[in-house]
Amino acid sequence: MSDEEDDMSVIAMEDVPRVAHAHMQAVHASEVEVLDALGEAIDAHRAGDATATIDAALGVLLEHVEAHFEGENRMMEAAGFPALPVHVGEHRRVLARLQEVLADWRSTRDVSALANYFFDEHMDWMMQHISTMDFVTAQFLSMRGVTAP
Ligand SMILES: [Fe+2]
Ligand SMILES: [Fe+2]
Repeated sequence: MSDEEDDMSVIAMEDVPRVAHAHMQAVHASEVEVLDALGEAIDAHRAGDATATIDAALGVLLEHVEAHFEGENRMMEAAGFPALPVHVGEHRRVLARLQEVLADWRSTRDVSALANYFFDEHMDWMMQHISTMDFVTAQFLSMRGVTAP
């Protein structure tokens, strides 16, 4: 692997749409780091068995995503955000999908399927979600002075 490829992150924070809410922005930034660690574990697996490292990275990611969604859900509730049901429903749908993918990974150990999910489906969803629902939610929360869950 060249030095250039070594330095390449699977996702860069500068590509993630900014939201007008410091806490949400910070949670998105740390989720990018957690996703990047998963990307590194998947890369390591291509060079030799890194199943345990991937499992550990997935455990961290699942906890992070749960806390991320739960925090936004609570803040929307505190602020009386009108589109709460839609945003919460989307979090619930994606969490269920994530749990399904993790269960598949544990039974098949198919690293390509895992990589495809995270670096295509999940990443595309995340960019889309942050630039739409999170974007609008962040403005509403800031307007209402709800700064943290
Ligand atoms: Fe978010
Ligand atoms: Fe969200």
